[in-house]
Amino acid sequence: MTTGDQARIARLRQELERHNRLYYVEARPEISDREYDLLYKELQDLEAQHPDLVTPDSPTQRVGGEPLKEFQSVRHLLPMMSLDNTYNFEELREFDARVRKLLPGEKIEYVLEPKIDGCSISARYEYGKLTIGTTRGDGTTGDDITANLKTIKAIPLTLDRQHPSLLEVRGEAYMPVAGFQKLNAQRVASGEEAFANPRNATAGSLKQLDSRVVAKRPLAAVFYAVGATDDIAFASQQEALKTFKTLGLPTPQFWWVCAGMEEVIQRIGDFQQRVGELPYEIDGAVVKVNSFDQWRRLGTTAKAPRYAIAYKYSHEQAETRLNAITVQVGRTGVLTPVAELEPVSLAGSTIARATLHNEEEIQRKDIRIGDTVIIEKAGEVIPAVISVVLGKRPAASQSFDLQKHLSGKCPECGGPIQKDPEFVAWRCENIACPAQLKRSLEHFAMRHAMDIEGVGEVLINQLVDKQLVRDIADLYSLTPELLEGLERMGEKSAANIVAAIAGSRQCELWRLIHGLGILHVGEGGARKLAEYFQTLDKLVRADVPTLEHMPDCGPVMARSIVDFFAHPRNRAVLDKLVATGLRPAPVEPRAALVQGGFFTGKTVVITGTLQRWTREEAQELLRQQGALVTDSVSKKTGCLIVGADAGSKLAKAQKLGVLVLNEQMFAERLKQPM
Ligand code: IVH
Repeated sequence: MTTGDQARIARLRQELERHNRLYYVEARPEISDREYDLLYKELQDLEAQHPDLVTPDSPTQRVGGEPLKEFQSVRHLLPMMSLDNTYNFEELREFDARVRKLLPGEKIEYVLEPKIDGCSISARYEYGKLTIGTTRGDGTTGDDITANLKTIKAIPLTLDRQHPSLLEVRGEAYMPVAGFQKLNAQRVASGEEAFANPRNATAGSLKQLDSRVVAKRPLAAVFYAVGATDDIAFASQQEALKTFKTLGLPTPQFWWVCAGMEEVIQRIGDFQQRVGELPYEIDGAVVKVNSFDQWRRLGTTAKAPRYAIAYKYSHEQAETRLNAITVQVGRTGVLTPVAELEPVSLAGSTIARATLHNEEEIQRKDIRIGDTVIIEKAGEVIPAVISVVLGKRPAASQSFDLQKHLSGKCPECGGPIQKDPEFVAWRCENIACPAQLKRSLEHFAMRHAMDIEGVGEVLINQLVDKQLVRDIADLYSLTPELLEGLERMGEKSAANIVAAIAGSRQCELWRLIHGLGILHVGEGGARKLAEYFQTLDKLVRADVPTLEHMPDCGPVMARSIVDFFAHPRNRAVLDKLVATGLRPAPVEPRAALVQGGFFTGKTVVITGTLQRWTREEAQELLRQQGALVTDSVSKKTGCLIVGADAGSKLAKAQKLGVLVLNEQMFAERLKQPM
């Protein structure tokens, strides 16, 4: 054996696992499947020449091994508990009241996460290596499914960066919806029974005694909880999720830290809007107290922790008749079919309309006008048609064809329609379509954008129909006299509306960026862009590489922004907006708020739980002094602030000789500019 081969084997393993992570965890592959296969083949060949060098954590071992006779039982180091459920916002508020009663006077932050509808798993890493993987079982004892979990490429065999002596992580194995559909199609083609849903497919796969079969199933995983640990400590759920990610463990795509239960409730709305982005099915959300110190003090009941609760969608269903399909035109011209239903009572309200999503969805479910359909309302979301009662189908029904249904014309403006090759959607191609303009104006004026009071759907419909407004910039030319001519518009309201519009000229920059309605730029993205670019001019001139340089801006968002500002019509509207006096307030560079403070220009890390401030508040105070707040301690760290239960960061800072401040010292230095 040559040491060259040994080194190459080590390098290939590292590279292959890195590419697994890029592909399966971060969804941003750097190499093609073919290049991956070549690296894999090279490793396989080298291992065949040196069988003594094959280790259980080699990526080649993910193909599965000899079938087992039965699974061994493993006792969990810490029990795997279940969660109590709530089904509405009132019950969430009651949970919050219980928490606050147990922690009187304390500030309670919550983390909101998706509730993944898969199978609970636990993975134990010892010195960074995956050693044991188990099912939840009865919560105390589970099955040893290590061989099966090792075939799941989203689960790292070796952790990145830190190698604590013990880190047990808990999460969910799942089958991505796309993989599930493909697997079922294959099963049906080969005469096997289809799985009822992705969760059953996951459970069925994990139960296989032959891990080679599991290796062929498109499984993935996501981790959201800490089990037993040694040598590594976490102060909060937020810190745990962030650290999981840096260790190469897949975590939920999105989650939020909320300042209280009211913010949680508000976020559940945002969350439901984004459910479609997730590759897995979810059956609700999980709300967890953020601070682990508070967890310890809240404790658990026999079955479930007192610091977390599930908010489950109650899936209520009803049967009714689909009378007609109408089509709505969205802000970007997307045509969305809507079911017009025989009114029916469901989950406490009368439902007469439901979303049909898009044409493909209607065809997949073969929904036809005149059908008796099952509608479902999951949580607070808009009701949807989920299936057809085929036995009640009228004889003369026809399958739905959107183009035919609309006679090839936009239902609002009569303009041409086209199927967007990139999305499944049909779009109205008329850039002057009044329906698109109406939706754009509603978006521009809404509370989470320019926040112009009094400018809502009813007014906008009139303004567009009477051609008083042809683009968003025209709003700024409206006068009280023009408005007074409209239906149900008094002198006072007309003056108020004009004043509200005028007042929006000095809006915060993020509001304008969001209000423009750039594809892939939501409120969060707009806020980050405003902070990063500080002026509209800089954002308009940014190219794709400059945009991608901004943290949290991926290639899709970058491209979309550049395309938006490159479009002559958008540029013309922007110029017009500026000409009407729109001047978004320049974003104060954060460092300028306090100059010459102790922390100005320092790179600062916070660890452990602070008493006086939440982590976010402390970070904000530091940023106001012009500090750069980062997550991990390195030679570049100027100072580490430690709260209660500080873990490995403190040890590392001490080793590197980094200045360490406790909360008291931190508070003093905040008040003492040098
Ligand atoms: S925390 C101590 N977080 O839901 C409880 N569970 O109904 C630890 N689940 O057994 C669980 N997504 O299998 C947690 N983001 C999430 C979750 C989640 C799905 C599952 C988990 C749990 C079940 C309880």
